Amino acid sequence: MTLQDTEAAIRLASDLIAESDHLVALVGAGLSAESGIPTFRGAGGLWSKVGEPSMNGYEQFLADPAGWWENQLDPAADPARTEFREAIDSAEPNPAHHALAELERMGVLKATITQNVDDLHNRAGSKRLIEIHGNRTKVRCIGCEGRWSRDEFSYDALPPICPKCGELLKGDTVMFGEPIPPSVIDACYREATLCDCIMVCGTSATVYPAAGFPQIVTSGGGIVIEVNPNPTPLSRIAVVTLRGAAGALLPKLVERLRG
Ligand code: APR
Repeated sequence: MTLQDTEAAIRLASDLIAESDHLVALVGAGLSAESGIPTFRGAGGLWSKVGEPSMNGYEQFLADPAGWWENQLDPAADPARTEFREAIDSAEPNPAHHALAELERMGVLKATITQNVDDLHNRAGSKRLIEIHGNRTKVRCIGCEGRWSRDEFSYDALPPICPKCGELLKGDTVMFGEPIPPSVIDACYREATLCDCIMVCGTSATVYPAAGFPQIVTSGGGIVIEVNPNPTPLSRIAVVTLRGAAGALLPKLVERLRG
């Protein structure tokens, strides 16, 4: 894509966003790539290196919650996971996170649905944020969906128990095979149904239900804008594609929309 093409795509994308009534951003690991956090798939991806986790992680947690917590709290238990966590711990929000928070402050972006668990959107100031795969700085009750910061608990006695309802606490990050908490998935579908323009940034659009939200938008007559250096299954339904890094492109959108 030439520079002229990119500039034209940014003009078109910002015009479409300006005309939209309910813009929603759907975000994936690519948004945090420029913060130094590895993506999952593609070159250098975490799963590309170590393989996708087993689909029965949640089942294993339910079968032995204390053993699951012991494993979670032991950095040596999973070096790749520890490396990923260290990348998150040393990461800062990048211009893409700040651009989404600014679009929200401008009243242009109505909600951000993120698949990322790295807390960088919160740190960049996003408020209307739905963390569909959870947030790794938190623990969650599998009964009442209560959430607390991880460091509000001591982990001497395992597994930690919900102070509100007595059910099990686990990391807030949604595991493979774990149902997405009902309040979270309801909020996502509500936004997808209201949305007339979904900007899909930095996701390979391969994991459901998140990857299905753009289809809900288009079936309601809405449009898809894609921000990704690489093609994805959504590229063919996007009315405009910004083929590049979100950290470079999203601030340009903000600039144009500021007028
Ligand atoms: N800007 C925008 N997009 C980027 C950038 C960047 N700087 N760098 C990489 N990308 C794109 C890649 O081209 C790829 O399409 O980000 C996408 C990352 O895809 P994945 O690694 O599959 O991450 P994601 O789509 O978020 O995965 C979804 O899978 O394993 C689960 O829970 C995990 O939330 C994750 C889900």
